[in-house]
Amino acid sequence: MAIERTFSIIKPDATRRNLTGAVNAVIEKAGLRIVAQKRILLTTAQAETFYAVHRARPFFGDLVAFMTTGPVVVQVLEGEGAIAAYRDVMGATNPANAAEGTIRKLFAESIEANSVHGSDSAENAAVEIAQFFAQNEIVG
Ligand code: RTP
Ligand code: MG
Repeated sequence: MAIERTFSIIKPDATRRNLTGAVNAVIEKAGLRIVAQKRILLTTAQAETFYAVHRARPFFGDLVAFMTTGPVVVQVLEGEGAIAAYRDVMGATNPANAAEGTIRKLFAESIEANSVHGSDSAENAAVEIAQFFAQNEIVG
């Protein structure tokens, strides 16, 4: 399998509980390498752009509000099949359905405050990485 890059966000529920390092430990234990990382406060416009695909969904407004309640840590992760591998490590969107040992099973508070985001395709990974990082900020 090819080496890929995926985009990750450690969400405000996790930064509020000081879990950045705990989440990163699970990421690294899964064999993924954090090749870019920064802690930022998303603006409403940034969150709306990021989640534009969900604009028509009933939870869109709540999701944008939640993502701007506190700092997030945006990251680029690199590794073998990183996009699917990180989705596996994250676990199901609803932590009630997440497998043992996944980030969402370990840390998520609810279906919305579910601690992490990960890209769902190579195309979206490229778009999402480009929204937050310049090429020279990613060092593999
Ligand atoms: P993500 O995009 O954040 O990696 O999560 P995902 O693919 O597992 O889930 P997705 O369907 O793309 O939903 C994006 C985020 O919206 C929030 N959500 N809230 N209240 C609800 O029913 C609901 N459903 C989804 C979650 O924060 C989810 O991660
Ligand atoms: Mg998604």
